[in-house]
Amino acid sequence: MQKKSTYDRRGFLLGSTAIAGATAAGALLPTGTALAQQGKLKVGLMLPYTGTFAQLGVAITNGFKLAIEERGGKLGGREIEYFTVDDESNPAKAPENVNKLVQRDKVDVVIGTVHSGVVMGMAKVLKESGTLWINPNGGAGAMTGAACAPNFFRTSFSNWQTTHALGKVLKAKGHKNAVFITWKYAAGEEMMGGFKEGFEKEGGKLTKELYVPFPQVEFQALLTEIASIKPDAVVAFFAGGGAAKFLKDYQAAGLKGKIPLYGSGFLTDGVLEAVGDAGEGVETTLHYADGLDTKKDKAFRLAYAKTFKLQPDVYAVQGYDAGQLLAAGLDGVKGNVANKVGVIKAMEAAKIDSPRGPWTLSKAHNPVQDMYLRKVVGKENKVQGVAWKALADPARGCKA
Ligand code: BEZ
Repeated sequence: MQKKSTYDRRGFLLGSTAIAGATAAGALLPTGTALAQQGKLKVGLMLPYTGTFAQLGVAITNGFKLAIEERGGKLGGREIEYFTVDDESNPAKAPENVNKLVQRDKVDVVIGTVHSGVVMGMAKVLKESGTLWINPNGGAGAMTGAACAPNFFRTSFSNWQTTHALGKVLKAKGHKNAVFITWKYAAGEEMMGGFKEGFEKEGGKLTKELYVPFPQVEFQALLTEIASIKPDAVVAFFAGGGAAKFLKDYQAAGLKGKIPLYGSGFLTDGVLEAVGDAGEGVETTLHYADGLDTKKDKAFRLAYAKTFKLQPDVYAVQGYDAGQLLAAGLDGVKGNVANKVGVIKAMEAAKIDSPRGPWTLSKAHNPVQDMYLRKVVGKENKVQGVAWKALADPARGCKA
């Protein structure tokens, strides 16, 4: 992304006009009065609070609010006013839902969402409005690829990133072929694509792609098909309630212990309490793991558990880092969010001290981060090592 030349878009011209206006008015006022006039920072949370991804939305919200509370409830000196929309993981309602925040509530920044299809529905509206946007989960490649924009930021992953390293992992285990099973929508298809690319580079072969419609969880027919194919390995992407159901069904179908199961880490993150021993031994790649044992991770886990009486997962980390990134942006302009160019520059330069380990943003505004190999041991996704150091999404088609 050519940073300077992108700031002349509609949204940023509006932003610059606002800056000029604010500066002129501010020059006539004492600094304190000017700041007071800015009022509270309006933060719009657009996340799933119902349906199969409801738990993910709650974890992201908790993580985000924890980051803000650690800063005394203020960013750049300004208190926060929250506006919340349940997006129900429904792509068809995405434009209407995000417009509630942009048009009705006139938020300064949108934080959302989980589902890749909803992300793409939001992208159309937010590109047009120029509203600052931090995505704390949904991995749709286009957001930081062909549809990238100066006001779009992601603190999670691209779908491609989460499975690309698995190719090397399967090769190291001696697996020559694999079947991929997932939901039929952007996240599943892109995670399948990331895996295929990585596995084929290692000489492996993806022999079958199996899909169920989102958010259905009827896996029986496809598990029977897997049993008859007898691949060296199965790779899966499901998340939330769907992941818990898949792990239990894989075990019930008698495949556990016979055909090794792998996945992007969403398959086992945040679900281990619900699945008994169905997850035991499953290996996944992801940008977070249990047992990282860093100072930052320990402090985060302690604070999260104390505040919410829950153990954090990858979604909580991504929400927390969305708060940290926004804090970097607001600190950079001393709370003057009307200075959009300044906020963006400060966010682009941020080095995020994350519970997952430090990360920075790529030119397309997606984290460049280590991908861990994890293995389910008891109720933990125990870190086994780094599967891919500083993996950057290829950002294909990002020309802005
Ligand atoms: C997605 O739709 O991008 C997604 C949803 C849940 C977990 C990971 C990715």
